[in-house]
Amino acid sequence: MTADSEMVEPAGPRFSFEGRPREARPGDSVLDVLLRDGLPNLQRSPHYHRPRAPLCGLGQCTNCLVRVNGRPNVRACRYEPAEGDRVETENGWPSRRFDALAGFDLLFPSGLDTLHGFRRPAWATRFYQFVVRRLTGFGAPPSSESAARLRAPPEVRSVDVLILGAGRAGRACAARLVAAGGSPLVIDRARSLEPVSGAELLTRTTVSFLPPRPADGARPFEVLAYTEPARGLLLRAQRVVVAVGSYDASLLFGSNDRPGVMTADGALAMAPRGGPPPFRAAIVFGAGDRAAEVVRRLEAQVSALVAPGVVPPELVRVCSDAGVEIYPRSLLVRAHGRSRVRSVELVARGSGTVSRVACDAVVLAHRRVPNVPVLFQVGTRMRWHGDPGAYFPEVDPAGRTSVPGLWAVGSVAGARGAASPLSGDRAARSLLGALPAGPVDASRPEAGPGEFEGYYRELLRRPRPGRWVACPCEDILLKELEAVTAGGYRGVEVAKRYSGLGTGLCQGRYCLPDALLVLALHEGRAPSEVGYSTQRPPVHPTPLAALAALEPQMAPSEER
Ligand code: FES
Repeated sequence: MTADSEMVEPAGPRFSFEGRPREARPGDSVLDVLLRDGLPNLQRSPHYHRPRAPLCGLGQCTNCLVRVNGRPNVRACRYEPAEGDRVETENGWPSRRFDALAGFDLLFPSGLDTLHGFRRPAWATRFYQFVVRRLTGFGAPPSSESAARLRAPPEVRSVDVLILGAGRAGRACAARLVAAGGSPLVIDRARSLEPVSGAELLTRTTVSFLPPRPADGARPFEVLAYTEPARGLLLRAQRVVVAVGSYDASLLFGSNDRPGVMTADGALAMAPRGGPPPFRAAIVFGAGDRAAEVVRRLEAQVSALVAPGVVPPELVRVCSDAGVEIYPRSLLVRAHGRSRVRSVELVARGSGTVSRVACDAVVLAHRRVPNVPVLFQVGTRMRWHGDPGAYFPEVDPAGRTSVPGLWAVGSVAGARGAASPLSGDRAARSLLGALPAGPVDASRPEAGPGEFEGYYRELLRRPRPGRWVACPCEDILLKELEAVTAGGYRGVEVAKRYSGLGTGLCQGRYCLPDALLVLALHEGRAPSEVGYSTQRPPVHPTPLAALAALEPQMAPSEER
């Protein structure tokens, strides 16, 4: 046997994508396989039929949905194909590359009102439904065969400590509890992770809290968990540690949904196993540590850095070492290109000088926001922080929240770096009774205007070329969101009901951070007064069939 043949990777499962055979390596997701041919445009947007390509690489957006063996809305970046799987794209007619329905874009530039139109004459209803289903672009319902497969036997478990998130903070917390003789259950939505020594780890699992525990703690937390591909779980936990981390936010600009626009999470995830990312000359938007990380790790594929503000000397040094051009204090106004970003238009803040920079990707590394939906859902008292412009839970120095029995640690609680006092280790010591409750940390500025409020104030005063997509999942445009305030309505919850923003599969993760800033500017009040939209379970997409299997076990909840 030669040295070369010894290095050949073991073969993985074979599956079909749009009828053509594909072969994965063990551990590959469907997206990993497709990325070998470059960035795939996997779907069309639901209203305007715009081409869309993966944005986050984390399983949080809705830009990589495919249909697997008749099951709709499976995220290609999370799904590891099995032998013989049939993977298809879900929308676009006759194909995702050429969507004839995009012609409606020209006929109805403000969008087609499929809700109120298509109603008369009533006898044509079945025909309208046929047409509207194709126009709305959400694919077809699950096949009966795939729905039946999801009816796994119900399971109910009781645990003392449940840790949500197996990153640095979650692991540190688990390690300390295990060392003290405990046996926490750790849950993470990642596809595969190193085991957590001594603790049980469930991967590919998402969670939602059922209605909050009463203030007297008389009942355990009830957490609905769903493990891909087909297992529903009802967990009853006495104590819960939330360590679900943070993610890179999206950004408002013209054609911000073009294929090639992606978050820093997405750019790094789409360079699998150290391979090249699916671009050759990206611009990185941002001026902080995250932007520096992207430039360092992907320097051969980054051509320019566009900073919303001043570029710190350390980042200037990183860019000049990598030969990356810098555009400081710039507004990103628009992306050009149809099926892929080809260039961006910038305006220098202050002078107003316009420049156009060629690129094949825009990597958003300007703002990391905490992954807070489960904290809102369980009723944690939250506090707005101007920098980075997001809500964080109110916690004491050990991560204890306002909800008895609930801790929040790591970056979801605002920790910065391993040395932060909001570490998993401190939370574990507090759970073990070794740390008394302390005062809520008020050291961070509460509601001062953040960098991005100023950025958007300047940007939104300018002309707005191209389509500015405020909510990519539901294809809600920025002007539709602004029409809410113009119509006299106030607050994000009302804006959600009026416009549909935040009602898609990502449940507002990518639209709410920016929408809060925009609404605050238009309403002339602080983002904290604009509110946050109600987070109802499940906060992650969960097949109804998997939930239905749990229904008999959840009977006691009916008393609530
Ligand atoms: S790229 Fe797969 S969910 Fe965002």
